[in-house]
Amino acid sequence: MEMELRDYTEEDFADIYALDQRCFPPGIAYSKRMLRYFLRMPQGRCILARDGDARASNGEARARDGALAGFIITEEGPPVGHILTLDVAEEYRRRGVGTQLLARSEEGLASRGVTEIVIETSVESAVGVAFWHGHGFLSVGVLPRYYLGKIDAYEMRKKIARA
Ligand SMILES: CC(C)(COP(=O)(O)OP(=O)(O)OC[C@H]1O[C@@H](n2cnc3c(N)ncnc32)[C@H](O)[C@@H]1OP(=O)(O)O)[C@@H](O)C(=O)NCCC(=O)NCCS
Repeated sequence: MEMELRDYTEEDFADIYALDQRCFPPGIAYSKRMLRYFLRMPQGRCILARDGDARASNGEARARDGALAGFIITEEGPPVGHILTLDVAEEYRRRGVGTQLLARSEEGLASRGVTEIVIETSVESAVGVAFWHGHGFLSVGVLPRYYLGKIDAYEMRKKIARA
């Protein structure tokens, strides 16, 4: 599997939006308006992974780019970086795509002076919690009714080395 990691451009918007809708339930997935806002934040970054082996068969954009396997959006205000979302398409899960996106993102954040990364994740998402724990994030507290006014979130943090 040849995974290409690169920065987001406007042409990726439709694919990013569609993938986020598939990854999260209604009300938690971002609206187009929110997603556009996040992608235009001056301190925001989005890195995406496209599958170079899945070109050609899926129409013009993918013929050029490869199918979208995943993306990560962060916002930074050094020394703190915040991961807003990490989405990996179901058919690409458990193949290290999320790990690659997080690693690339951490490298960039560290190079710009970030020494601590924060993420919120639903207490009901065993997969999310396993993923973040596996990558060195520690739960530092619970944010009551963080999602949809009813589902709690863990606030998780991780220190990273200055680049
Ligand atoms: C969480 C998510 C991003 C993981 O992406 P991924 O590309 O499948 O993750 P990786 O393949 O890099 O997995 C790395 C490690 O995370 C843990 N992990 C990932 N998926 C897991 C699962 N379903 N069950 C248990 N542990 C899991 C494992 O420790 C895994 O290592 P291993 O495969 O060697 O056991 C993906 O499942 C996803 O997009 N889910 C829906 C959206 C979401 O919940 N995002 C996170 C909150 S913002």
